[in-house]
Amino acid sequence: MKVLLISLIFITFLAPAQQADVAVNKEILRIAFGSCSKQDQPESQLWAEVNKTNPDLWVWLGDNIYGDTEDMDVMKAKYDQQKSHTGYKTLLSRSSVIGIWDDHDFGVNDGGAEYPMKDQSRDLLFDFLNVDKNNPARKRQGAYQSYTYNNSQGNIKVILLDARYFRDSLKWENPGTDDKIALKNETGDILGETQWKWLENQLSDNEIDLFILASGIQVIPEEHRWEKWSNFPMAKERLLNTIKKIDTPLIIISGDRHLSEVSKLDLEGYDYPLYELTSSSLNSPSTISEENNRFRLKNKIHERNFATMTIIWIAGKPSIQLKYIGKGGKSLASHQIQFN
Ligand SMILES: [Fe+2]
Repeated sequence: MKVLLISLIFITFLAPAQQADVAVNKEILRIAFGSCSKQDQPESQLWAEVNKTNPDLWVWLGDNIYGDTEDMDVMKAKYDQQKSHTGYKTLLSRSSVIGIWDDHDFGVNDGGAEYPMKDQSRDLLFDFLNVDKNNPARKRQGAYQSYTYNNSQGNIKVILLDARYFRDSLKWENPGTDDKIALKNETGDILGETQWKWLENQLSDNEIDLFILASGIQVIPEEHRWEKWSNFPMAKERLLNTIKKIDTPLIIISGDRHLSEVSKLDLEGYDYPLYELTSSSLNSPSTISEENNRFRLKNKIHERNFATMTIIWIAGKPSIQLKYIGKGGKSLASHQIQFN
């Protein structure tokens, strides 16, 4: 019995499950990110502006193409078109590129687990992103992934959540109309149990100095009528409770909305303010409209844009300069985010 107990403890200690899917020894000082890019509108892409910021890493936050099909030949052709843009090819040659999907590149507007082509679509996403054949994410269901960047001053882990493949159904008021309103699924889930366990494990990594948690749909905002984590209150509470368990700075990045904004939540029980940086859209912004978000800092942005986070380490804590950048490299907004 004693031997069994000792060996169980030993096995627990050895389990390396909190390690990222991929660990890279690369100095990541500037991370650029964006979402919602219509692949058939090359003239309005912002890749030249993205490349001018010299990002070490680009993170796609979903709607990376407007696939919206169950025909995988059509989906692949759209990815090929996105990949063919000169500026994007330059980005691929200079920067690391990772990403997660949202609904349109998943394959169906506002879609979830019911979409029949999700396995084939996932493989096309990973091919588009050049996800390595040996990446453990390729052997799982869904598109969630994690990447650790080992920096000399602090280690960064980017966790890409899949909010589509396992997501329970979402009901709408006035479905199919311009006035549709996403309703709450009080007991529904977004991530699925396997991804939850993986996420909890990824966040237990005590070698990390900054977590970046990516989700296509927004996490913090509650008031708007579109898709968001707040439509699945149990899942949102579970996510916030999971974040509370860590004692490391964490930033959420999201897309989907065709507008950009910064949300800040003071999460009781968590040592740091919780920021969510939403950047959308790269080439298809929404028109200006009233929309409340009680967590929003400053103003929302309705021009095509992407964002950059420049990270400076001060006494082991990240200090982040956030910039939203638009056409011609125009600065649309900036924020300073401190964690000390
Ligand atoms: Fe979306």
